[in-house]
Amino acid sequence: MAQTRLRVFRPFLLALYAGGLFGLAWSATAAAQAPLPKIWTGVYTEAQAQRGRDVFLNRCAHCHDERLTGGDGPALIAGQFNRNWGSRTVQRLFTKVKERMPPGEVFVASDKEKLDIVTFLLMSNGFPPGEHELRLDADELSSILIVGKNGPEPAPTGALVEVVGCLITEGDDYSLTNATAPSVSSMDDVAGDAKAFKGPLGTGKVKLLDVYPKPDGLKGRTLMAKGLLIRNGTATNLNVMALETVSATCP
Ligand code: HEC
Repeated sequence: MAQTRLRVFRPFLLALYAGGLFGLAWSATAAAQAPLPKIWTGVYTEAQAQRGRDVFLNRCAHCHDERLTGGDGPALIAGQFNRNWGSRTVQRLFTKVKERMPPGEVFVASDKEKLDIVTFLLMSNGFPPGEHELRLDADELSSILIVGKNGPEPAPTGALVEVVGCLITEGDDYSLTNATAPSVSSMDDVAGDAKAFKGPLGTGKVKLLDVYPKPDGLKGRTLMAKGLLIRNGTATNLNVMALETVSATCP
């Protein structure tokens, strides 16, 4: 008897609960349909970001400015932050701070303090705090993408990106075919990023500009190209800064 009753009640209660608690949020986002990206659900606490702020002011602000607007180091907010970190994971941002900041003095703050700093950077860039602290857990940090409320956007012109594709020549031009969508990247570890690429390839074509030395010997290989993205109408061009072999063949 009890079981039967539960079966009847549970869906009813769930409907009430969902309608009451989440009804508002649902109607507000009904047009968008997609769920909010994780980073918008509150992945750190305000207290944690405040702790991070204190360490940042002591250890980082003399190069990045206390308002994060940059100085000897780049700005860490707004357009610059979006261009360099948009669509990347919080794990990548944390790794950058952990392994490279401050330059030559990475030991001045612990990993825990650096994670707190990362939450301060998230708060400064408008991502909301929540109920639980962000934890030092690579899997969890890798699951949080730095994106706008509508999810990943195509990388903008001027961004430093990476593209993987198959090198072809057409006259004097070099292009990658079967190319992945350009994604925001960095020059910190070109060989490591190429090695970590697991596919799949894409359907795009990206013209390589200013490739030096000429990469004729790499024709027919699958390459990772890094450089500055230049979108020109429907064409995608890359001002190449590095080329690295992903595989010696093309699919
Ligand atoms: C001595 C000056 C200096 C100090 C101190 C310093 N940085 Fe940097 N930072 C730089 C420079 C220069 C760069 C650009 C070169 C690079 O990316 O490695 C940079 C780059 C960065 C980036 C990547 C920015 C981007 O958009 O690519 C982050 C994030 C960062 N710093 C955070 C920190 C944090 C957090 C601290 C304190 C723990 C810190 N930095 C301390 C000079 C500094």
